[in-house]
Amino acid sequence: MMKKDYFKDSKIKYPAYQPWITDSDKKIVEKVMGQNMLTLGPQLEKFEKAFSKYTGSKHAIAVSNCTAALHLSLKAIGVKENDEVIIPDLTFVADANAILACNAKPTIVDINKDNFFLSITNLKKNITKKTKAIIPVHIYGQACNIQEIFDVAKDNSLKVIEDCAHAVGTFSNSKHVGAIGDTGCFSFYPTKNMTTAEGGMVITNSKKIADKIRQLRSHGMSKSLKDRYSKGYPWIFDITEPGYNYRLDEIRSALGISQLKRIKKINELRRKAASYYYSKLKEIPGIILPDMVNDNTHSYHLYTIRITNKFRLSRNQLFNKLKDNGVRTTVYWMPIHEYTAYQKFSKASNVKNTTKMYNEILALPLFPTISKKHQDRVINVIKSFQK
Ligand SMILES: Cc1ncc(COP(=O)(O)O)c(C=O)c1O
Repeated sequence: MMKKDYFKDSKIKYPAYQPWITDSDKKIVEKVMGQNMLTLGPQLEKFEKAFSKYTGSKHAIAVSNCTAALHLSLKAIGVKENDEVIIPDLTFVADANAILACNAKPTIVDINKDNFFLSITNLKKNITKKTKAIIPVHIYGQACNIQEIFDVAKDNSLKVIEDCAHAVGTFSNSKHVGAIGDTGCFSFYPTKNMTTAEGGMVITNSKKIADKIRQLRSHGMSKSLKDRYSKGYPWIFDITEPGYNYRLDEIRSALGISQLKRIKKINELRRKAASYYYSKLKEIPGIILPDMVNDNTHSYHLYTIRITNKFRLSRNQLFNKLKDNGVRTTVYWMPIHEYTAYQKFSKASNVKNTTKMYNEILALPLFPTISKKHQDRVINVIKSFQK
Protein backbone atom coordinates (compact mmCIF):
# COMPACT_ATOMS: atom_id res chain seq x y z
CA MET A 1 0.00 0.00 0.00
CA MET A 2 1.24 3.49 -0.87
CA LYS A 3 2.02 5.58 2.22
CA LYS A 4 0.92 9.23 2.48
CA ASP A 5 3.38 11.86 1.27
CA TYR A 6 5.59 12.72 4.23
CA PHE A 7 5.97 16.32 3.09
CA LYS A 8 2.20 16.72 3.30
CA ASP A 9 1.79 17.55 -0.35
CA SER A 10 -1.71 16.22 -0.96
CA LYS A 11 -1.15 16.38 -4.75
CA ILE A 12 1.59 13.74 -4.58
CA LYS A 13 0.13 10.29 -5.21
CA TYR A 14 3.25 8.70 -6.69
CA PRO A 15 6.34 8.99 -4.46
CA ALA A 16 9.89 8.75 -5.79
CA TYR A 17 10.75 6.08 -3.30
CA GLN A 18 9.19 3.70 -0.82
CA PRO A 19 11.26 1.62 1.66
CA TRP A 20 10.73 -2.14 1.59
CA ILE A 21 10.72 -3.48 5.13
CA THR A 22 9.24 -7.01 5.33
CA ASP A 23 7.75 -8.90 8.27
CA SER A 24 10.95 -10.95 8.55
CA ASP A 25 12.98 -7.70 8.75
CA LYS A 26 10.72 -6.58 11.60
CA LYS A 27 10.93 -9.95 13.38
CA ILE A 28 14.73 -10.02 13.44
CA VAL A 29 14.89 -6.41 14.64
CA GLU A 30 12.43 -7.14 17.46
CA LYS A 31 14.39 -10.21 18.51
CA VAL A 32 17.67 -8.31 18.66
CA MET A 33 16.13 -5.63 20.84
CA GLY A 34 15.99 -8.29 23.57
CA GLN A 35 19.79 -8.87 23.44
CA ASN A 36 22.05 -7.79 26.30
CA MET A 37 24.53 -6.23 23.88
CA LEU A 38 22.92 -3.52 21.78
CA THR A 39 26.11 -2.38 20.11
CA LEU A 40 29.46 -4.05 19.17
CA GLY A 41 27.81 -7.45 19.56
CA PRO A 42 27.14 -10.62 17.53
CA GLN A 43 24.90 -9.02 14.87
CA LEU A 44 27.63 -6.58 13.85
CA GLU A 45 30.12 -9.44 13.45
CA LYS A 46 27.60 -11.49 11.48
CA PHE A 47 26.69 -8.57 9.21
CA GLU A 48 30.33 -7.80 8.47
CA LYS A 49 31.06 -11.45 7.68
CA ALA A 50 28.04 -11.72 5.39
CA PHE A 51 28.94 -8.47 3.57
CA SER A 52 32.55 -9.45 3.07
CA LYS A 53 31.43 -12.83 1.68
CA TYR A 54 28.88 -11.21 -0.63
CA THR A 55 31.37 -8.69 -2.03
CA GLY A 56 34.31 -11.10 -2.11
CA SER A 57 36.49 -8.76 -0.07
CA LYS A 58 38.77 -9.89 2.75
CA HIS A 59 37.47 -7.40 5.31
CA ALA A 60 34.22 -5.53 5.92
CA ILE A 61 33.82 -2.93 8.66
CA ALA A 62 30.33 -1.64 9.40
CA VAL A 63 30.01 2.04 10.30
CA SER A 64 27.25 4.54 11.06
CA ASN A 65 26.90 5.78 7.45
CA CYS A 66 28.75 6.02 4.14
CA THR A 67 30.13 9.48 4.94
CA ALA A 68 31.87 7.95 7.98
CA ALA A 69 33.10 5.13 5.71
CA LEU A 70 34.64 7.72 3.35
CA HIS A 71 36.14 9.75 6.19
CA LEU A 72 37.74 6.71 7.85
CA SER A 73 38.99 5.39 4.50
CA LEU A 74 40.75 8.69 3.83
CA LYS A 75 42.25 8.63 7.33
CA ALA A 76 43.33 5.01 6.97
CA ILE A 77 45.18 5.62 3.70
CA GLY A 78 46.98 8.53 5.35
CA VAL A 79 45.28 11.61 3.86
CA LYS A 80 46.25 14.63 5.91
CA GLU A 81 46.29 18.43 5.91
CA ASN A 82 46.87 20.03 2.47
CA ASP A 83 46.79 16.74 0.58
CA GLU A 84 44.57 16.80 -2.50
CA VAL A 85 41.88 14.22 -3.28
CA ILE A 86 40.14 14.07 -6.66
CA ILE A 87 36.36 13.74 -6.90
CA PRO A 88 33.93 14.10 -9.79
CA ASP A 89 31.86 17.31 -9.90
CA LEU A 90 28.71 15.20 -10.23
CA THR A 91 28.48 13.41 -6.90
CA PHE A 92 26.91 13.76 -3.49
CA VAL A 93 28.57 16.33 -1.23
CA ALA A 94 29.55 13.59 1.26
CA ASP A 95 32.69 12.91 -0.79
CA ALA A 96 33.80 16.53 -0.57
CA ASN A 97 32.80 16.84 3.10
CA ALA A 98 34.81 13.75 4.06
CA ILE A 99 37.90 15.27 2.41
CA LEU A 100 37.49 18.57 4.26
CA ALA A 101 37.03 16.61 7.49
CA CYS A 102 40.66 15.47 7.01
CA ASN A 103 41.73 19.11 6.41
CA ALA A 104 42.62 18.04 2.88
CA LYS A 105 41.49 19.73 -0.36
CA PRO A 106 38.97 18.34 -2.83
CA THR A 107 40.00 18.67 -6.47
CA ILE A 108 36.75 18.86 -8.39
CA VAL A 109 37.02 17.25 -11.82
CA ASP A 110 34.58 17.31 -14.73
CA ILE A 111 32.67 14.23 -15.92
CA ASN A 112 32.53 12.95 -19.50
CA LYS A 113 30.33 14.61 -22.11
CA ASP A 114 28.15 11.56 -22.70
CA ASN A 115 28.06 9.75 -19.38
CA PHE A 116 28.17 10.40 -15.66
CA PHE A 117 31.74 9.21 -15.05
CA LEU A 118 34.93 11.05 -14.19
CA SER A 119 36.68 12.16 -17.38
CA ILE A 120 40.05 10.43 -17.69
CA THR A 121 41.55 13.34 -19.64
CA ASN A 122 40.54 15.81 -16.96
CA LEU A 123 41.58 13.43 -14.21
CA LYS A 124 45.12 13.25 -15.62
CA LYS A 125 45.25 17.05 -16.02
CA ASN A 126 44.37 17.61 -12.36
CA ILE A 127 46.97 15.37 -10.75
CA THR A 128 49.59 17.38 -8.85
CA LYS A 129 52.42 16.59 -6.45
CA LYS A 130 49.96 16.97 -3.60
CA THR A 131 47.40 14.52 -4.98
CA LYS A 132 47.01 11.54 -2.70
CA ALA A 133 43.85 9.76 -3.81
CA ILE A 134 40.90 9.55 -6.19
CA ILE A 135 37.30 8.88 -5.22
CA PRO A 136 35.47 7.43 -8.25
CA VAL A 137 31.70 7.12 -7.87
CA HIS A 138 29.60 4.20 -9.14
CA ILE A 139 26.88 6.70 -9.69
CA TYR A 140 23.18 5.69 -9.78
CA GLY A 141 24.27 2.04 -9.34
CA GLN A 142 26.26 1.68 -12.56
CA ALA A 143 29.85 0.44 -12.44
CA CYS A 144 31.93 3.45 -13.53
CA ASN A 145 35.15 3.46 -15.58
CA ILE A 146 36.96 2.05 -12.57
CA GLN A 147 39.63 0.07 -14.41
CA GLU A 148 40.79 3.14 -16.35
CA ILE A 149 40.81 5.19 -13.16
CA PHE A 150 42.68 2.46 -11.37
CA ASP A 151 45.32 2.41 -14.14
CA VAL A 152 45.83 6.19 -13.85
CA ALA A 153 46.07 5.82 -10.06
CA LYS A 154 48.65 3.08 -10.38
CA ASP A 155 50.78 5.09 -12.82
CA ASN A 156 50.78 8.01 -10.38
CA SER A 157 51.03 6.06 -7.10
CA LEU A 158 47.61 7.26 -5.95
CA LYS A 159 45.14 5.48 -3.68
CA VAL A 160 41.57 4.75 -4.82
CA ILE A 161 38.54 4.92 -2.56
CA GLU A 162 35.47 3.70 -4.43
CA ASP A 163 32.21 5.44 -3.56
CA CYS A 164 29.77 2.53 -3.77
CA ALA A 165 26.92 4.27 -1.92
CA HIS A 166 24.59 3.40 -4.81
CA ALA A 167 26.09 0.10 -5.74
CA VAL A 168 25.32 -2.91 -3.54
CA GLY A 169 25.09 -5.69 -6.12
CA THR A 170 27.05 -3.89 -8.86
CA PHE A 171 29.87 -5.85 -10.46
CA SER A 172 32.68 -4.84 -12.79
CA ASN A 173 34.56 -7.57 -14.67
CA SER A 174 32.96 -10.12 -12.33
CA LYS A 175 34.31 -8.37 -9.23
CA HIS A 176 31.97 -6.59 -6.84
CA VAL A 177 32.67 -2.86 -6.97
CA GLY A 178 34.58 -1.59 -3.97
CA ALA A 179 36.85 -4.62 -4.02
CA ILE A 180 39.00 -3.11 -6.80
CA GLY A 181 40.36 0.02 -5.10
CA ASP A 182 42.00 0.38 -1.68
CA THR A 183 38.59 0.59 -0.04
CA GLY A 184 34.93 0.60 -1.11
CA CYS A 185 32.34 2.62 0.82
CA PHE A 186 28.64 1.68 0.94
CA SER A 187 25.53 3.45 2.19
CA PHE A 188 22.46 1.85 3.74
CA TYR A 189 20.43 5.10 3.85
CA PRO A 190 16.69 4.37 3.43
CA THR A 191 16.54 5.07 -0.30
CA LYS A 192 19.50 2.82 -1.11
CA ASN A 193 19.30 -0.69 -2.61
CA MET A 194 19.41 -2.15 0.89
CA THR A 195 18.83 -0.22 4.09
CA THR A 196 19.59 -0.21 7.79
CA ALA A 197 17.79 3.20 8.09
CA GLU A 198 21.20 4.86 8.58
CA GLY A 199 24.32 2.80 8.08
CA GLY A 200 27.42 2.17 6.02
CA MET A 201 30.21 -0.30 5.33
CA VAL A 202 33.85 -0.19 4.26
CA ILE A 203 35.32 -3.12 2.39
CA THR A 204 39.03 -3.65 1.81
CA ASN A 205 41.52 -6.39 1.06
CA SER A 206 44.17 -4.76 3.23
CA LYS A 207 44.42 -5.94 6.85
CA LYS A 208 46.35 -2.80 7.75
CA ILE A 209 43.58 -0.53 6.46
CA ALA A 210 40.86 -2.71 8.05
CA ASP A 211 42.58 -2.65 11.46
CA LYS A 212 42.99 1.11 11.33
CA ILE A 213 39.34 1.68 10.36
CA ARG A 214 38.11 -0.67 13.10
CA GLN A 215 40.16 1.28 15.63
CA LEU A 216 39.09 4.75 14.43
CA ARG A 217 35.42 3.66 14.28
CA SER A 218 35.36 3.26 18.04
CA HIS A 219 37.18 6.28 19.52
CA GLY A 220 40.63 5.09 18.43
CA MET A 221 40.76 2.35 21.09
CA SER A 222 43.62 -0.07 20.54
CA LYS A 223 41.53 -3.08 21.69
CA SER A 224 38.06 -4.25 20.67
CA LEU A 225 35.30 -4.44 23.29
CA LYS A 226 35.43 -8.24 23.09
CA ASP A 227 39.21 -8.34 23.69
CA ARG A 228 38.98 -5.92 26.59
CA TYR A 229 36.44 -8.07 28.40
CA SER A 230 37.92 -11.47 27.58
CA LYS A 231 41.36 -10.97 29.18
CA GLY A 232 43.13 -8.52 31.45
CA TYR A 233 41.56 -5.31 32.70
CA PRO A 234 38.79 -4.00 30.44
CA TRP A 235 39.70 -0.38 31.00
CA ILE A 236 43.28 -0.85 29.83
CA PHE A 237 43.65 0.17 26.22
CA ASP A 238 45.66 2.75 24.36
CA ILE A 239 44.76 5.63 22.05
CA THR A 240 47.50 6.19 19.53
CA GLU A 241 45.33 8.40 17.34
CA PRO A 242 42.03 9.98 18.40
CA GLY A 243 39.05 8.34 16.71
CA TYR A 244 35.28 8.79 16.41
CA ASN A 245 32.08 7.11 17.42
CA TYR A 246 31.08 5.82 13.98
CA ARG A 247 29.64 2.50 15.20
CA LEU A 248 26.68 0.64 13.70
CA ASP A 249 24.44 -0.72 16.46
CA GLU A 250 23.08 -4.25 16.75
CA ILE A 251 19.54 -3.35 15.65
CA ARG A 252 20.72 -1.81 12.38
CA SER A 253 23.20 -4.64 11.86
CA ALA A 254 20.40 -7.18 12.21
CA LEU A 255 18.29 -5.29 9.68
CA GLY A 256 21.29 -5.26 7.37
CA ILE A 257 21.68 -9.05 7.62
CA SER A 258 18.03 -9.52 6.77
CA GLN A 259 18.11 -7.08 3.84
CA LEU A 260 21.35 -8.49 2.45
CA LYS A 261 19.70 -11.93 2.29
CA ARG A 262 17.18 -10.42 -0.15
CA ILE A 263 19.53 -8.25 -2.18
CA LYS A 264 19.42 -10.45 -5.27
CA LYS A 265 15.64 -10.32 -5.35
CA ILE A 266 15.60 -6.57 -4.55
CA ASN A 267 17.96 -5.79 -7.41
CA GLU A 268 16.11 -8.07 -9.80
CA LEU A 269 12.88 -6.16 -9.10
CA ARG A 270 14.70 -2.87 -9.63
CA ARG A 271 16.10 -4.12 -12.93
CA LYS A 272 12.63 -5.23 -14.02
CA ALA A 273 11.17 -1.81 -13.24
CA ALA A 274 14.06 -0.11 -15.09
CA SER A 275 13.48 -2.40 -18.04
CA TYR A 276 9.79 -1.44 -18.12
CA TYR A 277 10.66 2.26 -18.27
CA TYR A 278 13.15 1.48 -21.02
CA SER A 279 10.62 -0.41 -23.13
CA LYS A 280 8.10 2.43 -22.93
CA LEU A 281 10.34 5.51 -23.15
CA LYS A 282 13.10 4.42 -25.52
CA GLU A 283 11.70 6.01 -28.63
CA ILE A 284 10.92 9.46 -27.30
CA PRO A 285 13.00 12.06 -29.16
CA GLY A 286 15.17 14.12 -26.83
CA ILE A 287 15.04 11.72 -23.88
CA ILE A 288 18.21 9.74 -23.11
CA LEU A 289 17.71 6.70 -20.90
CA PRO A 290 20.13 4.78 -18.66
CA ASP A 291 21.84 1.81 -20.33
CA MET A 292 19.79 -1.36 -20.00
CA VAL A 293 22.12 -4.22 -19.07
CA ASN A 294 21.60 -7.73 -17.81
CA ASP A 295 25.08 -8.49 -16.50
CA ASN A 296 25.06 -6.97 -12.99
CA THR A 297 27.15 -3.98 -14.04
CA HIS A 298 24.16 -1.82 -13.05
CA SER A 299 22.03 -2.34 -9.96
CA TYR A 300 19.54 0.40 -10.92
CA HIS A 301 19.70 2.35 -7.68
CA LEU A 302 18.37 5.39 -9.54
CA TYR A 303 16.72 5.73 -12.93
CA THR A 304 18.14 9.04 -14.07
CA ILE A 305 16.99 10.14 -17.50
CA ARG A 306 18.33 13.07 -19.50
CA ILE A 307 15.97 15.64 -20.99
CA THR A 308 17.81 17.25 -23.87
CA ASN A 309 16.79 20.30 -25.92
CA LYS A 310 15.19 18.02 -28.52
CA PHE A 311 12.39 17.32 -26.04
CA ARG A 312 9.44 19.74 -25.88
CA LEU A 313 10.01 20.66 -22.24
CA SER A 314 13.09 21.58 -20.25
CA ARG A 315 14.07 19.42 -17.28
CA ASN A 316 12.53 21.87 -14.82
CA GLN A 317 9.32 22.11 -16.85
CA LEU A 318 9.01 18.31 -16.94
CA PHE A 319 9.68 18.15 -13.18
CA ASN A 320 6.78 20.57 -12.64
CA LYS A 321 4.42 18.74 -15.04
CA LEU A 322 5.13 15.42 -13.29
CA LYS A 323 4.51 17.08 -9.94
CA ASP A 324 1.22 18.58 -11.18
CA ASN A 325 0.27 15.03 -12.11
CA GLY A 326 1.04 13.69 -8.65
CA VAL A 327 4.51 12.28 -9.40
CA ARG A 328 7.50 13.11 -7.22
CA THR A 329 10.90 13.19 -8.96
CA THR A 330 14.19 14.86 -8.13
CA VAL A 331 17.70 15.61 -9.34
CA TYR A 332 20.82 13.94 -7.98
CA TRP A 333 22.47 16.52 -7.49
CA MET A 334 23.60 20.09 -7.92
CA PRO A 335 27.28 19.95 -9.02
CA ILE A 336 29.72 20.22 -6.10
CA HIS A 337 31.30 23.37 -7.55
CA GLU A 338 28.02 25.27 -7.07
CA TYR A 339 27.95 24.99 -3.27
CA THR A 340 29.25 28.08 -1.50
CA ALA A 341 31.75 26.07 0.58
CA TYR A 342 33.24 24.47 -2.55
CA GLN A 343 33.28 27.28 -5.11
CA LYS A 344 36.90 28.00 -4.36
CA PHE A 345 37.94 24.47 -5.29
CA SER A 346 37.01 24.63 -8.97
CA LYS A 347 36.72 26.95 -11.92
CA ALA A 348 33.32 26.87 -13.67
CA SER A 349 35.14 26.80 -17.02
CA ASN A 350 36.67 23.44 -16.08
CA VAL A 351 33.41 21.70 -15.29
CA LYS A 352 31.41 22.40 -18.45
CA ASN A 353 30.19 18.86 -19.01
CA THR A 354 28.81 18.55 -15.48
CA THR A 355 27.14 21.94 -15.78
CA LYS A 356 25.37 20.87 -18.98
CA MET A 357 24.50 17.41 -17.62
CA TYR A 358 23.09 18.91 -14.43
CA ASN A 359 20.48 20.81 -16.45
CA GLU A 360 19.35 17.62 -18.17
CA ILE A 361 19.05 15.00 -15.42
CA LEU A 362 15.92 13.87 -13.61
CA ALA A 363 15.49 10.71 -11.49
CA LEU A 364 12.18 8.94 -12.05
CA PRO A 365 10.51 6.96 -9.24
CA LEU A 366 12.18 3.57 -8.85
CA PHE A 367 11.99 1.07 -6.01
CA PRO A 368 11.55 -2.72 -5.80
CA THR A 369 7.81 -2.71 -5.06
CA ILE A 370 6.86 -0.01 -7.59
CA SER A 371 3.61 -0.89 -9.41
CA LYS A 372 2.94 -0.81 -13.16
CA LYS A 373 0.22 1.78 -12.44
CA HIS A 374 2.82 4.01 -10.78
CA GLN A 375 5.25 3.64 -13.68
CA ASP A 376 2.49 4.08 -16.27
CA ARG A 377 1.54 7.40 -14.72
CA VAL A 378 5.16 8.60 -15.06
CA ILE A 379 5.42 7.24 -18.62
CA ASN A 380 2.12 8.75 -19.75
CA VAL A 381 2.96 12.21 -18.45
CA ILE A 382 6.33 12.14 -20.26
CA LYS A 383 4.75 10.81 -23.46
CA SER A 384 2.08 13.50 -23.45
CA PHE A 385 4.80 16.12 -23.99
CA GLN A 386 6.55 14.30 -26.80
CA LYS A 387 7.13 16.43 -29.93
C1 LIG B 1 27.19 9.00 -3.97
C2 LIG B 1 26.99 9.10 -2.48
N1 LIG B 1 28.06 9.05 -1.69
C3 LIG B 1 27.95 9.10 -0.35
C4 LIG B 1 26.73 9.24 0.25
C5 LIG B 1 26.64 9.36 1.74
O1 LIG B 1 25.91 8.32 2.32
P1 LIG B 1 25.37 8.39 3.80
O2 LIG B 1 24.11 9.18 3.77
O3 LIG B 1 25.15 6.95 4.18
O4 LIG B 1 26.43 9.03 4.63
C6 LIG B 1 25.57 9.30 -0.53
C7 LIG B 1 24.26 9.46 0.09
O5 LIG B 1 23.24 9.63 -0.51
C8 LIG B 1 25.71 9.23 -1.94
O6 LIG B 1 24.64 9.30 -2.73
